[in-house]
Amino acid sequence: MSVQIKPRILLTKTLPLAAQKRIESFDKIELIHWKDGVIPRGELLNLVKGVDGLLCMITDEIDEEVIETAGNQLKVVSTMSVGYDHVSTAALKSRSIPLGYTPGVLTDAVADLAVLLVLAAARRLREGISAVLNGDWITWSPTWLLGSQLTDKTIGIVGFGRIGLGTAKRLKPFLGSNGKIVYAGRTVKKEAEEVDAKKVEFDVLIKEADVVIISCSLTEETRGMFNYEVFKKMKRSVILVNIARGSMINQPDLVHALSENRLGAVALDVTTPEPLSPNDELLKFKNVTVIPHLGSATLETRTAMANIAIDNLLAGIKGEKLPYQVEF
Ligand code: DGY
Repeated sequence: MSVQIKPRILLTKTLPLAAQKRIESFDKIELIHWKDGVIPRGELLNLVKGVDGLLCMITDEIDEEVIETAGNQLKVVSTMSVGYDHVSTAALKSRSIPLGYTPGVLTDAVADLAVLLVLAAARRLREGISAVLNGDWITWSPTWLLGSQLTDKTIGIVGFGRIGLGTAKRLKPFLGSNGKIVYAGRTVKKEAEEVDAKKVEFDVLIKEADVVIISCSLTEETRGMFNYEVFKKMKRSVILVNIARGSMINQPDLVHALSENRLGAVALDVTTPEPLSPNDELLKFKNVTVIPHLGSATLETRTAMANIAIDNLLAGIKGEKLPYQVEF
């Protein structure tokens, strides 16, 4: 009698309840589940040995060493994220191992959050909330905590993929008839016509935009592209929002620019590192709002992401094309 060996799966965090129950219900796989926060590097290297599939998160560095340590039986890596800058595509490509990701399902959640950050920065929400909590709310005043309005302003979106477009669609009604949307990216996007957005050079965008939203993938070309030279070219009243990856911004340069009052307000969903220390210099500026990488953090979206990540994983285990496979 032959004993059927089940494929081994390493799951590096707990999924939203419905998806967690789903993955635990498969009796044809052996699930190794890391439950306690971010899996330490040593544990990752230990537990990944001999697995057939890896379901990972943006908090896991899946590099050459991890892929090599996993062994030749590894059939698929599935990340529960749309971004995959934490995974070495070179290491996977050289072994013909497919990478699954979760595009599309988080567009609405992230675009909603982008709007939230633009408005929070423009209307000085952090300062208002702090004033209430600290007892600094003395009276209504015609001149207190005046923010800026989006009417007639120029919104500049760097990276006009699904999330950039979704953000543009949401912000368009705030701009009135004289406001405009421009974007910078590698290609002209047909969908940009839906919001009457024009493609401009990056240099033009950063000089002309009243609001700059970073919404592009982190690559070796885009890493640190927002540096002191770029901040110097921006309007002094600019609102800068980052919903992509912290490393898009050279953070020491950002602190430098803020210390010279070069930027109107900054709102970040992503930072370097994550989590950001509560003592980080960036947080000392009252015109800076930082939230803890919440872009896709709705129950609906995270459940959908987890289910796609499971579907990708299962397809990979069976040697099938993944429903959402990164092309490399
Ligand atoms: C992603 O999926 O890349 C997001 O940053 C997670 O919120």
